[in-house]
Amino acid sequence: MLIRRPDPIAGGEITDERVYQNRRRFLETMGLATLGLAAPGSLWAGGPPRALQSDELTPLEDVLSYNNFYEFGTGKDDPAKNAHTLRTRPWTVDVEGEVHEPRTFGIEDLWQRFTPEERVYRLRCVEAWSMVIPWLGLPLRDLLSAVRPTSHARYVEFTTLLDPEQMPGQRRGILPWPYVEALRLDEAMHPLTILALGLYGKALPNQNGAPVRLVVPWKYGFKSIKSIVRIRLVREQPTTTWNAAAPREYGLYANVNPMVDHPRWTQARERRIGELRKRPTLMFNGYADQVASLYAGMDLRRNY
Ligand code: MTE
Repeated sequence: MLIRRPDPIAGGEITDERVYQNRRRFLETMGLATLGLAAPGSLWAGGPPRALQSDELTPLEDVLSYNNFYEFGTGKDDPAKNAHTLRTRPWTVDVEGEVHEPRTFGIEDLWQRFTPEERVYRLRCVEAWSMVIPWLGLPLRDLLSAVRPTSHARYVEFTTLLDPEQMPGQRRGILPWPYVEALRLDEAMHPLTILALGLYGKALPNQNGAPVRLVVPWKYGFKSIKSIVRIRLVREQPTTTWNAAAPREYGLYANVNPMVDHPRWTQARERRIGELRKRPTLMFNGYADQVASLYAGMDLRRNY
């Protein structure tokens, strides 16, 4: 499914979501969803992993109203209330550092040049809740290939906009600002890793990280940095925001791992938003077939 340059999601479009869910169910009944309309064939050549097939989409209403975006407050309902102050046009993303052709992409370039496609991914947060969201995204590796990484590039660092006028949470020192995240280059180049420009068939709402955010579905949600203005390829492992704020709790890798507890709570179970009963958390959030090889030989208790 290809949708280009959709309108932003307005608050009252919940009916649309029902139509969307029904259309997806129809596609699934027809067997089309697994053929590539909902999940791109290049990614899931043999159909999506079994565990994903039974996943219901999280209602749009919850996706829009239960968020983490500390630039707009620390309460789950703060981003929906406060993120209207973020101006997402004009918007550019600098891609620089260890690359042969550094470039600044306008947000419209990203929509037009890379043709975002729909990917249904689970996002699992350290706080033990999860959602299933249909993203519109482009493989991050397409963008990185366009700037041609040098042989020295080993990590990719992402930075959120720094502007306390637009992001009132940045006036408080709850985190070191701007928000920074990072991946190893091979994680960034993995086909599951996307830059999301939209969800539920429309441009990203501000509270979900407009106009462009990362989604890395096998890692805890805090890796999926929002409102990105800079992507820098570097030689040394970058310091990330959560790692700097609480190094014992948040490592660089942050792979969803039910066997490694967070120092303050278990990671073995999760509550899917919209469900009452908790479900067991899957290794690598259910994407182990596709990503476990990235960590072969590593001690995942030490590299948490
Ligand atoms: N990006 C920025 N810039 N600031 C944040 O506070 N929170 C992270 C991540 N990206 C965050 C961020 C966390 S902890 C989670 S769980 C996800 O965004 C939540 O994404 P969602 O609100 O779209 O579900």
